[in-house]
Amino acid sequence: MATPGARTAQHYRRSVLPYYRRFGSRWGYAMLLGRTRHFGWYEPGQSPWGFAASMRRMEAMTARQLALPAGSRVLDAGCGVGDVARTVAAEGGLRVTGLDGIASDVAIARRRTARATGHAARATRFVVGDYHALPFADGSFDGLYTMESFVHAADPRQALSEFFRVVRPGGRLVMFEYSRTPSAELAPRADSVVSDICELAAMPAMLPHGHLERLVGEAGFAVESVTDITARVLPMLHAFSLLGRVPYAVARSVGRGDLLVNAMSGVELYRHQETWRYNICTAARP
Ligand SMILES: C[S@@+](CC[C@H](N)C(=O)[O-])C[C@H]1O[C@@H](n2cnc3c(N)ncnc32)[C@H](O)[C@@H]1O
Repeated sequence: MATPGARTAQHYRRSVLPYYRRFGSRWGYAMLLGRTRHFGWYEPGQSPWGFAASMRRMEAMTARQLALPAGSRVLDAGCGVGDVARTVAAEGGLRVTGLDGIASDVAIARRRTARATGHAARATRFVVGDYHALPFADGSFDGLYTMESFVHAADPRQALSEFFRVVRPGGRLVMFEYSRTPSAELAPRADSVVSDICELAAMPAMLPHGHLERLVGEAGFAVESVTDITARVLPMLHAFSLLGRVPYAVARSVGRGDLLVNAMSGVELYRHQETWRYNICTAARP
């Protein structure tokens, strides 16, 4: 039987990596979001098309939710190309270590930091790794955040126990993650859409509403708040649904809607808004 470590590594290799290596995924993120891969934050009336500005607002919100004094050490678990880490470092005067399983993205993160100026250039560093088995000593960080990366966890309890281990007592946890509506509360078509998207986008930990905060508490953290910010990210999803409509319709007409997961997600999740939420969960290690 596979050990837990082998199982999480296998899930990453067989599901998460192939999802991010797909042409549609790479092309979409590169063309639309400069390889950063998270939703933007929109106040009412802001244009859905200002993707870069909206993502920087979301990243600044991460720093605010961490609410740590300047100089604090923070881990970004699932950092991608590091734009979140650089904004968080700059906004909060924090020292951010980014960790991701995609070596080529970590290389991009390091190059972008090498070209950056100011505090972010000095205060961000990046390592390749798996957040189920963090290569850091106990209590190494004053805070830890995830930005749409925990949904990929093959073993959410193991990942959270690692987060708990590396955050010092009194340190903070902030998670920007999606949750799904329980199957029993959805029409069959809506339920199968969200299940298919979780499967195709390798998101076994897009958990039913309320489960993430329960697991965070069971890992030993004291949950402080859970805020539903779905309305703040919806304009970007609307834009994606408009951009994805034609390619997804063409792919579906030949029975291969699954080939364009990102277009499918944009169209179907905007159409079936009852199936998901976007939450910020904040907690502290007692
Ligand atoms: C949606 S992307 C978000 C990337 C980044 N946080 C951002 O906002 O641009 C999710 C990221 O989580 C990373 N990830 C998923 N599972 C991981 C794991 N077990 N260990 C480390 N990184 C992981 C993926 O490689 C991917 O880069």
